[in-house]
Amino acid sequence: MKIEVAGGNITEREDAAVVVNLFEGVAHPSGATGAADSALDGAISDLIAEGDVEAGRGAHTLIYSLGKTPAKRVVIAGLGSRDDFDANAAREVHAGTARFMRAKGMASYSTILHGAGIGGLDVYDCARAAAEGIALGAYSFDKYKSDAKPSPETSTIVEFNRARIPEIERGVSDGRAVADAVNLARDMGNEPANHMTPTQMAETALEAANETGMALTVFDRADIERMGMGAFAGVAQGTEEPPKLIVLRYDGDPDDPANNLGLLGKGITFDSGGLDIKSASGMLTMKSDMSGGASVIAAMKAIAALGPKINVWGIIPATENMPGRRAQRPGDVVRAMNGKTIEIGNTDAEGRLVLADALCYAVENGLTRIVDVATLTGAVRIALGDGATGVFGNDSRWVERVIAAGESVGERMWQLPTYESYKRQYKSDIADINNIGGSGAGATIGALVIGEFAGASNWAHLDIAATARATRESGVNPKGATGVPVRTLIELARALGESSH
Ligand code: BES
Ligand code: MN
Ligand code: ZN
Repeated sequence: MKIEVAGGNITEREDAAVVVNLFEGVAHPSGATGAADSALDGAISDLIAEGDVEAGRGAHTLIYSLGKTPAKRVVIAGLGSRDDFDANAAREVHAGTARFMRAKGMASYSTILHGAGIGGLDVYDCARAAAEGIALGAYSFDKYKSDAKPSPETSTIVEFNRARIPEIERGVSDGRAVADAVNLARDMGNEPANHMTPTQMAETALEAANETGMALTVFDRADIERMGMGAFAGVAQGTEEPPKLIVLRYDGDPDDPANNLGLLGKGITFDSGGLDIKSASGMLTMKSDMSGGASVIAAMKAIAALGPKINVWGIIPATENMPGRRAQRPGDVVRAMNGKTIEIGNTDAEGRLVLADALCYAVENGLTRIVDVATLTGAVRIALGDGATGVFGNDSRWVERVIAAGESVGERMWQLPTYESYKRQYKSDIADINNIGGSGAGATIGALVIGEFAGASNWAHLDIAATARATRESGVNPKGATGVPVRTLIELARALGESSH
């Protein structure tokens, strides 16, 4: 979908529909909604007085203009309460409108910016939130559908005050780059496992590198074994599908290698559980077990396009986890790249194994600030549901910065503990550690096992097992892959690039 910006009065637009808005408690709208009300001879005020306009956030009221405006329909988007209306709310309202327009089969629509009028928000922030919301809301994964419902072709943001247009265009352009990255991660997560193989993930990374000038290195099975990545190689042993270690590099501050950020993403393109095989229902959504890796590839693409002053590496260990003839066995012992040995208590706890070696690789290459992203544990859903991504780490200031980045872009995160006392749970009788930790605190145990390989780096871990896929449409998210936490990763790189580290 195209997102355009135009100056003028929204009531004069020739589209299938024009969108104005309404805060709760407003009886006589002003601004663009007031202009639409006048053009319609007071119909909007009348409807409000009769209680026929829903001003709740996310509600839409469609009325016919009966020839009084060039557009056949005027849609009033409810903004909810003015007190807690912010850029995150604006993003959600715009996303809901894009879905509303698709459901109604509108070819094109015009909308005003929500929040830039009596909402009092910054114009750039509003424009950016609008572009993100529109592009995220219009998303659908329909490439395998013969009878897909088309999204509106164009949505135009109309602003009465022409002096604001350059600022709005800047916001739309940045918002578009961010939303395109989120949608790329969604596409990858929705793609079935017979299509989105490790090879295909590397291919997607190559396209991102070619488009932005990032450097890309892809290591194959022999390289992985040669580099001593026994934990990663052990997981990849059960599948014929070639594993890949994908390394993307964006050099935004080449004179200062200490100004760095490592983004690691779990890239299990299908998690059958391995020999500790999953149940049928447990396996059904496991094509999305590469969502962390997808979010890193997508975020890297946007970061390289936006150009912050920081060096960012994206590291994605990608493989299937399958119970093939050569599959690793429960009870096997593997050795990670840093020499630590791991007893395989359960072959289904594979994410921490591939990330262990990815983390060793990051530390060995001098990265000092690291975030890993993984659909790691079912336990994080028990703790937080889909309300927030679980966050863990070895440095509270670093964890705070990651959470703050999420907060500012509307991706919720909640920290869970990594107390020393939990570590006894994953002791092994015969190796340095076990890859599982018995019952209790499952998400923490997964995090702590990864953290064993963080060396002296500042490391944070995001468990997106419950937030990477949505079971229903809500906020900016469609059903299926959400692209969480792409926006956080981009914002983190931007914020770090602005601060002297
Ligand atoms: N990929 C799964 C975690 C997962 C579960 C993601 C549900 C999304 C939805 C992970 O590899 C896994 O199997 N974890 C096990 C760990 C256990 C064996 C210690 C789990 O959570 O059951
Ligand atoms: Mn698993
Ligand atoms: Zn997994």
